[in-house]
Amino acid sequence: MLSKEKIDNLLNILNLNNDYDIDSKNIIELLTAVKNEDDSALLQTLFKIKYNEYPDTSLFEKALTIIKHEPELEHDILDSFSNNQVWAKTKLVNGLDKLNLLNKDTEVVIWGCWYGSVIIPLLHDKVKKIIAVDIDDHAIEIGKNRLFKEYDNVEWISEDIFGEYKEFYGHTDIFINTSCEHMLPMKWWGPEGPRSKHNYFKAWDGKNHEWPVYKKAWWKKVKPSAHFAFTSNNMFDIEGHINCVNNIQEFMNQLPPSAEVLHEDNLKDERGTRYLLIGKI
Ligand SMILES: C[S@@+](CC[C@H](N)C(=O)[O-])C[C@H]1O[C@@H](n2cnc3c(N)ncnc32)[C@H](O)[C@@H]1O
Repeated sequence: MLSKEKIDNLLNILNLNNDYDIDSKNIIELLTAVKNEDDSALLQTLFKIKYNEYPDTSLFEKALTIIKHEPELEHDILDSFSNNQVWAKTKLVNGLDKLNLLNKDTEVVIWGCWYGSVIIPLLHDKVKKIIAVDIDDHAIEIGKNRLFKEYDNVEWISEDIFGEYKEFYGHTDIFINTSCEHMLPMKWWGPEGPRSKHNYFKAWDGKNHEWPVYKKAWWKKVKPSAHFAFTSNNMFDIEGHINCVNNIQEFMNQLPPSAEVLHEDNLKDERGTRYLLIGKI
């Protein structure tokens, strides 16, 4: 490791024909972070050098802690914060904003929220309340207790969204579902019924699976002024994608019959196209 004195001297030589204002303390911090393989300290120091202040690394630290304790989740956690995720969720929130749907009285439900990774930070201070629902207990536990514990306007529920009608759906203003490709079409949102009408669908594994059939949709029960923001995609090859669509029209065909689309977008990335639909239910 270079000594402080040696770094000072080297910086002096460098600064003789440059205008840099780098403190040798930062260089020591940087080298120490590299030596200790401390990613958080490394990034903090880089930000300090560039912007002259340390960034808020609270969420970053929490994500790293989860990965440290559960290394098998590394890919999933990092994937939930990918560029594509940030892009798609930003488009969704901006779309809602442009339609003036987000304000201090807005109550939002997020279905298939996963860890809430990008959408919760983007949305939480624009609305009154968020209820985040996912069938995966562990994803809910991570979002609730480990990533976003201090967000006091977010409630987390571990539940199959097709399981049972909840009282809060009756006063929800916006239903968000960014996981439509993972579940039954939204027009079928409702209680389970007899398996008589719809039969089979071809899933990502190429096999025919039986659709459960939903007798009576719940969309009629929600507030007449409620809106939706749904995304799906054409990434058929990804595990768990049981209900992809080929284009935005196919996605529209999955909306409840009364839906009126107010905003639509096609978001292309290296894995395929994501489809965004926002409208009135
Ligand atoms: C892996 S995430 C991917 C999300 C999406 N591609 C995105 O970018 O936000 C899909 C989530 O949907 C959830 N999910 C699938 N079916 C569900 C259901 N019936 N009710 C609630 N959550 C569900 C899964 O547990 C999972 O957390």
